[in-house]
Amino acid sequence: MSKNRRKIIAANWKMNLTIGQGKELVHNILKEKDLPCEVVFAPPFTHLSEIKKITSDRDKVFLAAQNCHHESSGAFTGEISTDMLKDMGVQMVIVGHSERRELFGDTGKWINQKIKACLKRNLQPIFCFGEKLEQREQNQHFETVGKQIKEGLSGLSEAQIQDVIFAYEPVWAIGTGHTATPGQAEEMHQFVREEISSTSSDQVARSVPILYGGSVKPANASELLSCPNIDGALVGGASLKANDFLSIVAAV
Ligand code: PGA
Repeated sequence: MSKNRRKIIAANWKMNLTIGQGKELVHNILKEKDLPCEVVFAPPFTHLSEIKKITSDRDKVFLAAQNCHHESSGAFTGEISTDMLKDMGVQMVIVGHSERRELFGDTGKWINQKIKACLKRNLQPIFCFGEKLEQREQNQHFETVGKQIKEGLSGLSEAQIQDVIFAYEPVWAIGTGHTATPGQAEEMHQFVREEISSTSSDQVARSVPILYGGSVKPANASELLSCPNIDGALVGGASLKANDFLSIVAAV
């Protein structure tokens, strides 16, 4: 697993696109031969093996799942284990996305177990956290994010934390068109680095990538990505169109 802080643009397709549409999208994006950063595709589970066939021979291109179960096998109808993902050639897993927390009841404890399961299988977790609108309005955004980070990293060694990709996604900015201002995002990313430092070390905090997510689009990408503590983006809506996604990648 790579341990360096680097620029990453990740595409979270959520529950969108057929396999054919997904393949066409990836083909169109990968027509760009000179990617300036790492690019991650997180399609639905059903698309992973087909998308892997297109991405496997490309440098700097990685495949992620959108979720996993923390047990390696067993009676968990409808779930997918990290062993199964590893078997398919997946390299990363989105863990703790706010839609999982809100709509499917993923708790801080589960998220921690999922992160541990990923790391055990050499899969890099893309660990998401972020406050809701009312928490920001009540000035509880730092407290909320601090708690989510502590829960997610609980029991992890410094070496393990070094392999985590962090993603700050304010819930009020996801799919709403309301992006955090570069100032709001940078301030939180700085705070996240301080939290990581207090859980591990300053060296680890400085060396992990922290992505921003929430209505990232071509029009706001360069402003956000030029902030010193923002190492990339986790993109939902705008990752479904090759031109939009490539403009965000180019903004790096
Ligand atoms: P959005 O989604 O870019 O559509 O706001 C981001 C995400 O949920 O990861």
